[in-house]
Amino acid sequence: MLSVPPPNLGGREANAPLTNSFLIDNDRLPDPCALVILGATGDLTRRKLVPAVWQLFQQGRLPEGFVLVGVARSILTSAQFRDDMKAALLEFAGVDAAADADRLDRFFAGVHYVQGELDDSGTYSRLTELLRQCEAEGGTRGNHCFYCSVPPQVYRLIVEQLGAAGRNRDGDDGHHWVRIVIEKPFGRDLASARELNRHIHKVFDEHQIYRIDHYLGKETVQNILVFRLANSIFEPLWNRRYIDHVQITAAETVGVEHRAEYYDRSGALRDMIQNHLLQVLCIIAMEPPSAFDAESVRVEKLKVLKSVRPIASGEVDRFAARAQYSSGKIGATRCDGYLEEEGVSANSQAETFAALEFTVDNWRWQGVPFYVRTGKRMATRASAITLQFKQPPHLIFQNSAGVNPSKLTVRLQPEEGIALSFSGKIPGQEVKLGSVDMDFCYADAFGGRHPEAYETLLLDCLLGDATLFASSDWIEKSWELLMPVLEAWGGTSASAMPTYPAGSWGPPQADQLFDRDWRQWATS
Ligand code: BG6
Repeated sequence: MLSVPPPNLGGREANAPLTNSFLIDNDRLPDPCALVILGATGDLTRRKLVPAVWQLFQQGRLPEGFVLVGVARSILTSAQFRDDMKAALLEFAGVDAAADADRLDRFFAGVHYVQGELDDSGTYSRLTELLRQCEAEGGTRGNHCFYCSVPPQVYRLIVEQLGAAGRNRDGDDGHHWVRIVIEKPFGRDLASARELNRHIHKVFDEHQIYRIDHYLGKETVQNILVFRLANSIFEPLWNRRYIDHVQITAAETVGVEHRAEYYDRSGALRDMIQNHLLQVLCIIAMEPPSAFDAESVRVEKLKVLKSVRPIASGEVDRFAARAQYSSGKIGATRCDGYLEEEGVSANSQAETFAALEFTVDNWRWQGVPFYVRTGKRMATRASAITLQFKQPPHLIFQNSAGVNPSKLTVRLQPEEGIALSFSGKIPGQEVKLGSVDMDFCYADAFGGRHPEAYETLLLDCLLGDATLFASSDWIEKSWELLMPVLEAWGGTSASAMPTYPAGSWGPPQADQLFDRDWRQWATS
């Protein structure tokens, strides 16, 4: 007798346990090692890195024989450094000092501090001595991951000093490894990125270098690949036959915060587009890699960048728009303009909004524009990717003019999820069409806590998995593509910087440029 499966009602049985354990590979435990954070008293360490290490520790994802070493110029003892980091965990990791007391003690037993200037060889001698001690007593087996949590101008000298101290080589016997993590920004243009790559390659091999981009550690960004490649229903539509255009948006309500010194030299193009948003573009546009490993994924992402049509110097205004926020209101909160922010130079030419149109010249994407936009002090915080489908070639229904074409939106944050909007019949005697949504929301479907990007990326780095890190070629190619825009915007003949009020959706130039309304893109 045929057994007929029960009807699938599209929902989940009320009491069925929902597990995401298929995503967790319990064999993924790093080798014993020391994670050395250079610049350990900075904001990134307190807010992101140490909380991420703590989470990994709590989840049992760190090996026996793991130590965390902070290195910085502040005059602190190891005990004082531990107290500072404990305070950071209370503030940024929701740790309860009383309830977590035992675990905190165990965690901090493996935390050490080396005081010294980062350009002083004495600092690295003391570090070497401590690392030897950790190897002998803490069982770290000579495996070292150096994390440069410092301003970009310091990367070079850390690399030089690590090389001079002999802390750069994997073991000849293949029994221990050394890795270095470099934060963004990796260079500020093509020449400086090339120079930095050359400099680091003198000391470290490419396989030892982990150029971190925290966007790639976001669950929602990683899920794009799963969504595309673990389902057979989307991939056939993922091309120029069905897709009209792609929008990649990162709208933030925050302004320059306390980072004016960095941001004023950078601007939105360097800060968000060269790295985060071009990475997202590559993940959307790339061909399915043959495996989910660093080499296969990196090859495909690089192929996308190589297919992006360069913007000719004389055509920057046709394909790119920029602006700076002026004072305004976000909700009820009044915000200063960018030029009034503390630390911003009075005649700053840093753009806080940038929008670009890219064309990917290959068989899959020919003729499909990719619109990439980001801005600070926008009306709403919304990072999303929208793939807008083409209208059917022939619409047979009356009153169907003006019906929205179907679209697929991947919400990166907030309300992480994926929505498919399509046309449906509005109930009634006449055939009238309306847009309806099918919405998958991470929090509802999977519940629980999702790892922070830095947890995922730190763990990957300790495991030696570079899939989610940028290669030297990718970095250089991304800068190369943006050079005409950087040159046009930074040149003496650059047109005056347009402005947009804080709390708006950017300058009218951006809407005119692409003949679309940016507000609709980000929120609908
Ligand atoms: C950082 C940029 O890399 O990313 C910031 O330097 C930006 O300017 C931030 O605010 C955005 O990241 P997230 O994870 O908050 O979207």
